[in-house]
Amino acid sequence: MLPAGSMGVRKISHPLLLVRNLKKYFPIKAGVMQKVVGYVKAVDGVSFDVYRSETFGVVGESGSGKTTMGLSILRLIEPTEGEIIFDAPSEVMMEIKKLETKERLSDRDKKRLEELKKRYDLMKKDKKEMRSIRRKMQIVFQDPYTSFNPRMNMRDNIGVILKTHYPELSGKDIDERVLELLEKCGLAKRHLRRFPHQLSGGELQRASIARALALNPEFIVMDEPTSALDVSVQAQILDLMQELQKDMKLTYLFISHDLSVVHYISDKIAVMYLGNIVELGTTEQVFEEMKHPYTKALMESIPYPDPDKKGTIKPLYGTIPSPRNPPPGCKFHTRCPYAKDVCKKLAPPLVDVGDGHLVACWKYVEGAYK
Ligand SMILES: Nc1ncnc2c1ncn2[C@@H]1O[C@H](COP(=O)(O)OP(=O)(O)OP(=O)(O)O)[C@@H](O)[C@H]1O
Ligand SMILES: [Mg+2]
Repeated sequence: MLPAGSMGVRKISHPLLLVRNLKKYFPIKAGVMQKVVGYVKAVDGVSFDVYRSETFGVVGESGSGKTTMGLSILRLIEPTEGEIIFDAPSEVMMEIKKLETKERLSDRDKKRLEELKKRYDLMKKDKKEMRSIRRKMQIVFQDPYTSFNPRMNMRDNIGVILKTHYPELSGKDIDERVLELLEKCGLAKRHLRRFPHQLSGGELQRASIARALALNPEFIVMDEPTSALDVSVQAQILDLMQELQKDMKLTYLFISHDLSVVHYISDKIAVMYLGNIVELGTTEQVFEEMKHPYTKALMESIPYPDPDKKGTIKPLYGTIPSPRNPPPGCKFHTRCPYAKDVCKKLAPPLVDVGDGHLVACWKYVEGAYK
């Protein structure tokens, strides 16, 4: 079995990203007039912090909103609502967090919090500002075959990004920089002139990572980066990602439906269900002290290489409901073996069950689960 959070020592650092109440609703249109008749609530109010140099894993079934959340954070799709505080100075991040946790905010506090968020919230940035911020925020997708231009060789596929952001670079500068990036990712000079179809899946995913590194980012959303690869190649790519993270002090938001991969690579894990985070904690908390019935069921339903855990948790039954018409109350209540009346009526808050381990389940709200 792969070791938990194999990045090793927990890092002491400051948040790089604060996501607050992020929502993305896709309108459902119908009829000749294409009238909006409802919304797919793909991301329905998620909040979390990502610390510098950590890997924040996001896990959940297909359709739980993982990709939509990743794209929304980068504003590659326009979020419906929420705040995305990115890359503010560490003292500002700490000040925001301190103000947020204050029980009562004075008018001065409120004004200060608003002012800080206004300055650093990506949602308040215009297109031009976003373009420059996006140098620091990159994304790697699952399928590297569709993310490269098939008519360009790798030098041009990666070079075009450098040229767009740094038009002053000469052709020779770009040759050198692309080669350096490819080599950093375990590829060689011979790959420069190859076209995407001439590379294997693993080589192409290495090239995707090289491309994501081209502008020296701080933060990379990895959206199922190894899901399309053979198991043996998966491990190599994960190791490469970890090496690069150490070398370049990168922060990852790592999305996957594969629990053993998330377990291996993540320092912290958020479990998503129908657009919400239902459990969030360190890798140890989520795997060893899992609390939410959905997390428990997920561990059981997906092959997870810990034989000791088998048989102790009830299997996940039923299919995931549509985010177009999610169940009221706790969205998981239709599949939850422990659901009671309160679960059918009210959405549970995300509460701290100890040491920052967060769970959204009425069972853990004192006095609510009767
Ligand atoms: N552009 C879109 N228009 C309408 N609905 C969308 C759009 N993109 C995603 N959705 C819907 O939003 C929900 C969340 O989708 P998303 O792709 O974010 O899930 P996911 O967790 O990444 O799933 P997977 O594991 O399959 O990649 C799904 O119900 C999906 O059908
Ligand atoms: Mg996805």
